[in-house]
Amino acid sequence: MSIAFLNGTFLPLEEARISPLDRGFLFADGVYEVIPYYNGISFGIEEHLSRLQRSLAEIRIPLSQTIEEWASLLNDLVAKNGGGDLSVYLQITRGAYETRNHAFPPEIKPTIFAMVSPIASPLAADATKAKGISAITAPDIRWSRCDIKAISLLPNILLKQQAADAGAQETILVRDNFITECTSANVFAVKNGTIYTPVNDAQNLGGITRDIIIGLALEHQMPFQEIAMTVEFLEDADEIWVSSSTREVVPVIALNGRVVGDGKPGMLWKVMAEHYQTNKKRIFTR
Ligand code: PDD
Repeated sequence: MSIAFLNGTFLPLEEARISPLDRGFLFADGVYEVIPYYNGISFGIEEHLSRLQRSLAEIRIPLSQTIEEWASLLNDLVAKNGGGDLSVYLQITRGAYETRNHAFPPEIKPTIFAMVSPIASPLAADATKAKGISAITAPDIRWSRCDIKAISLLPNILLKQQAADAGAQETILVRDNFITECTSANVFAVKNGTIYTPVNDAQNLGGITRDIIIGLALEHQMPFQEIAMTVEFLEDADEIWVSSSTREVVPVIALNGRVVGDGKPGMLWKVMAEHYQTNKKRIFTR
């Protein structure tokens, strides 16, 4: 049984309880982060926690914790769970109050919850053997502040299920004929040797994995560009990748039932996947 953290206390996950009056439960009034740990060591935690601070500020949940304090709490949680390869889920809601009222309560007492889940060990895995996934495109029915990592994920859930219903693993989202991102990942396209990704704005999340991939592309002089990416551009791509903290960088080999490139993980994906693993090893052995 794993150990969770709830409002100042470490406890077995199955003993954690929150009120049905919690605004996270009633309104999805909260934000979250998912942070990978490999061998008990965090990967990209400062970037994740900076994004958390930004999300909290954007939805006006006032908390005094510093990035160092959050990191120390999550490191303790991982240690209490025995380390290893884990993803930490951290959720903060505006808290529980006596009545259901849309407006903020005068004094905010947030609910802070964290738990861990196992993740496959990408360090042990041979990334170049990944088979790739199928994706579909669908209209992006989410709100216009997708830069905030909010817990209100109903559109994402419906859109992800749309992929599952179509026998695919991911949905790539389209707003006004432009690609935004996926239901829980960012998206990249490769064309004629250049790596492209949609510009980061309020229509998508500034993914930490996206930033790592961009950094690696620049470091290794792989041609890279952020663009306003049309559906036609994506459909015509030689390679498509999706990226997130728990999935790293995954090749898409079929889009809307048609093969992408030659229907196998692409050449540049293999190069990037290797750079990604080498970069992780570099961090964990320094
Ligand atoms: N999702 N876009 C969306 C909508 C996401 O939910 C996520 C991450 C990403 C990728 O961000 P990052 O590289 O920082 O993980 C992009 C997490 C993993 C989740 O909801 O489980």
